[in-house]
Amino acid sequence: MEIKKVGVVGCGLMGAGIAEVCARAGYDTVVREVDDGLLAKGLDRLRTSMAGAVERGKLSDQNRAAAGGRLRGTTRLEELADRDLIIEAVTESLAVKREIFETLDRACPSYTILASNTSSIPIIDMASVTGRPDRVLGMHFMNPVPVMRLVELVQAITTSDETLATSRAFGEAVGKRVIVSKDRAGFIVNMLLVPYLLEAIRMYESGFATREDIDVGMVLGTNHPMGPLTLLDYVGLDTTYFIANILFEEYRQSQYAPPPLLKQMVTAGFNGRKSGRGFYDYAAGEKPPQT
Ligand code: 3HC
Repeated sequence: MEIKKVGVVGCGLMGAGIAEVCARAGYDTVVREVDDGLLAKGLDRLRTSMAGAVERGKLSDQNRAAAGGRLRGTTRLEELADRDLIIEAVTESLAVKREIFETLDRACPSYTILASNTSSIPIIDMASVTGRPDRVLGMHFMNPVPVMRLVELVQAITTSDETLATSRAFGEAVGKRVIVSKDRAGFIVNMLLVPYLLEAIRMYESGFATREDIDVGMVLGTNHPMGPLTLLDYVGLDTTYFIANILFEEYRQSQYAPPPLLKQMVTAGFNGRKSGRGFYDYAAGEKPPQT
């Protein structure tokens, strides 16, 4: 099967990025948000990102316009009914995701592949509420989607090899390097990344080192583009807290347990860059250390 028409559910940070890469790669793309306000905001984010790509010389103005022409927004989930592939990128709530998978399963023809961009929830939890568990898989993009070259595909115990092969070809067609994980919480990337980020929080929490030295240590010591506390602010502390809880629930091992400081910061609303404050206070003009 060849994918021609793509649907994206959710036009937040990840959904907008996914819709952008699909439209830029030549796919007829429809992105859905729950209301007109959120849709306008998401499409605006997407247009700003493409304008930035033009400014940086990564995209020609002509290709930007062509990508814009292949993209349309909607607030109705049912409008995705003619899509070959639908990528769900909504909030990390299993209840919300399950409802979306149930609705899409009812609305779409049997050939439509349903993918989830979940960062950590096992795919079988969504596949099992559909009548097509062989055509459900994980398609985990990295943030920022237009820039990061990876897509992680997750094959649930029900996902067919054909679904995986079609999705692999799609991932490559949108310019990503594809890796494949079996279906367990955290997959490959977050299974390795999240314990590292949690350990950096524990180190800072214990007073062992300053936030700046922890960040500079990993940037200059291992050539990471961002130190762990800066990356936490970038990914979102709420998102990381959520993933840590999913991992801890699945494995019951202490390295996945969210440190008390993370919980406190999330409770206080210090969710990182998007909220103005995380490990660094962006609203007060603080910046992660320059190297
Ligand atoms: N389209 C295409 N290319 C773009 C673009 C766009 N919309 N926006 C930026 N770029 C390109 C730039 O041209 C530049 O390319 P170049 O290196 O060839 O010149 C490159 O992307 C970097 O852009 P910038 O120069 O603007 O930004 P920085 O150099 O400051 O890098 C960063 C920013 C890419 C965010 C970098 O700091 C980074 O890689 N940080 C780590 C990000 C990371 O780890 N993400 C994964 C998080 S984990 C995750 O997502 C999983 C989830 O489940 C939690």
